[in-house]
Amino acid sequence: MNNHTAVIGKPIEHSISPKIHNFWIKENGIKVGEYKKISLNKENVKSFLEKCMAENYKGLNVTVPFKELTFELCDIVSPIAKKLQAVNTITFSENKIIGDNTDPIGFNNSISSNNQIKYIENKTALVIGAGGSARSIIYQLQLMGSKIVNANRTKSKSEKIKNNLNINFDICSLQDISSILKEIDFVVNTTSLGINETDNNLVDFDLLKENSYVYDLIYNPKKTSFLMNAEQRGHQVQNGLKMLIFQAAASFKIWHNIEPQVSDQLIKTLE
Ligand code: ATR
Repeated sequence: MNNHTAVIGKPIEHSISPKIHNFWIKENGIKVGEYKKISLNKENVKSFLEKCMAENYKGLNVTVPFKELTFELCDIVSPIAKKLQAVNTITFSENKIIGDNTDPIGFNNSISSNNQIKYIENKTALVIGAGGSARSIIYQLQLMGSKIVNANRTKSKSEKIKNNLNINFDICSLQDISSILKEIDFVVNTTSLGINETDNNLVDFDLLKENSYVYDLIYNPKKTSFLMNAEQRGHQVQNGLKMLIFQAAASFKIWHNIEPQVSDQLIKTLE
């Protein structure tokens, strides 16, 4: 069948993107095949994109570790993808590979406007980690009007983001986090610490400004030790599930020109 969509990555077994997209495909009665997850080796990504083009695929989501590689393989990229040098959404159109990145808008739409006003606009955010996800989050937080501090184990990666994005933000070491916490309104963990139930003790939530907002990009487990500790100290918490859903919604809109509903039923299906 034509017009297939899928997600590529490695590993990909745990991806829940098919559940999200297939829910909306069914809900909206769209006449396309099932959204699949496809594991690829790096050396096969280019030929896979060519195959998709030949087989009239509609588009692909791209996840770790191929977001930078696919950026290089696109014929046309959106301004955001160009800025981030990474692609998470590919569309095949008129024999061209078109790349976009819906991670920043996914992050933006995952936070209610009330909370954006209360914790982000003209406030100070601490972003922990300096990998691919941190790049999208820093880019978007800046657009949302936040002052940003980035803390990472490897300082050079923070500096690279600062140079590439041309955004002015402060950089600190993981050890220095404690000394700035009383100024912080919004904390986001973008590191992988917390996946597989590992502990993340990078923040002493007793020292964090009272009633702050704590966000962890991890959504499995639903509540990491990071979020549990924050909640116990009276902070508001959020995991990464809504960001995943909203970045998927933006990709869905690009391919099918339909704004899918982020309903409680969908969220329940995923939890
Ligand atoms: P993603 O694309 O999901 O952001 P990534 O690019 O691999 O993933 O980035 C992972 C981030 O988690 C990095 O900032 C990494 O720190 P380094 O830049 O120093 O490698 C951080 N990270 C991973 N394991 C960590 C650990 N045990 N302690 C502290 N930071 C860690």
